[in-house]
Amino acid sequence: MSAVTNLRAIEILDSRGNPTLQVQAELASGSRASAKVPSGASTGINEAVELRDGDTSRYLGKGVREAVNNVNTEILLALEGFAADDQRAIDETLIRLDGTENKGRLGANAILGVSLAVAHAMASEQGVPLYRRLANRDRYELPVPMFNILNGGQHADNNVDIQEFMVLPLGLPTFSEGLRAAAETFHALKAILKSKGYGTAVGDEGGFAPELKSNEEPMELIVEAIATAGYEPGGDVLIGLDAAASEFCKDGVYVFDQSDGSRRSAVEISAMWADWAARYPLISLEDGFSEVDHSGWKTGTAQLGGQLQLVGDDLFVTNPKIFQAGISDGLANSILIKLNQIGTVTETLDCIQMARDNGYTFIISHRSGETSDTTIADLAVACGGGQIKTGSTCRSDRVAKYNRLLEIEAELGSHAVYAGRQAFGAWL
Ligand code: PGA
Ligand code: ZN
Repeated sequence: MSAVTNLRAIEILDSRGNPTLQVQAELASGSRASAKVPSGASTGINEAVELRDGDTSRYLGKGVREAVNNVNTEILLALEGFAADDQRAIDETLIRLDGTENKGRLGANAILGVSLAVAHAMASEQGVPLYRRLANRDRYELPVPMFNILNGGQHADNNVDIQEFMVLPLGLPTFSEGLRAAAETFHALKAILKSKGYGTAVGDEGGFAPELKSNEEPMELIVEAIATAGYEPGGDVLIGLDAAASEFCKDGVYVFDQSDGSRRSAVEISAMWADWAARYPLISLEDGFSEVDHSGWKTGTAQLGGQLQLVGDDLFVTNPKIFQAGISDGLANSILIKLNQIGTVTETLDCIQMARDNGYTFIISHRSGETSDTTIADLAVACGGGQIKTGSTCRSDRVAKYNRLLEIEAELGSHAVYAGRQAFGAWL
């Protein structure tokens, strides 16, 4: 019987030096496994709540001793002896035990750590890799990396308002070739930045974070880098953005206050995205509008949805109820999936199913605060959405996910299918 016999959480650090949790789950069989919990910076207002101690004498109030304690006492007491092979029952028990809408009592960080650790322990008990435990398929697909190459916004201390510029090597034949194209483009961009006298330090997700002349300059530099690396912009490698526009929308006006201070209405920023889509090989735009600007999202989706994958991150926060309402309102055509925005494996899988049922694409994503945990690589392969967003190949918290995908690709051998262009069929 695969019962939970122990849960053990400890306080560890994430890639920004802030505390987070590692949780180990142990089963009656002796199988055990652990998981580490990520943490965002540009968080959506409706995300499940991370429990932080607020004790300013430790880690600027960001300690997670209380969440750790919740795992080691109250949650363990509730789950001890519980069948670990029923992930849904485990997760529903955690949700009920917490008793709040936003998981703020026990902490979404505590709950997710347990949910993930149990999933990993079951995979270990069954002697299968996590992606097989999460979904049993005949054919697994390797995702296209949405490879973060230039950082701005809340993820860097530079003068770029747009949070993430990404390259999408969707025209390459395999995952490893795609990853190579992205990594070579990253190196080419570094050389270009250097030659122009720009900085080559990196931001939170491993993309470069230089001071630049405008928010548009990265688009030009990236196209140049793709070509310099020997790939065809728009054919082999395309561009994706995460504007994270909730961060620079003030009272319904989009204000580029990190760069030139210019202001745009929703209609004007939508026109700017359309203009960029016409002039650059842009295929995906995440949070191009603020999470509270539903009318901007609605008209933006009607205007841009035919040519761009429009990804709701802060807008949907991986929450099935919020996502369902957004689908009914005609907002976006794709969803970003972040386990810690909702806090359990089961609700995350429910959100993915909802995307499938409604013709939305979905992208498995890291957070800007990460660890060496590689769960999202397995989740991306298990769910087969064909896209993963996990930073650049600089910073080992990001590289860990890519290396796990390379491992899975090698393990699948000739059965490894690369999602490639297929994942973006509607917009190519
Ligand atoms: P976050 O950023 O983890 O800081 O929220 C990632 C994103 O916005 O996609
Ligand atoms: Zn985002």
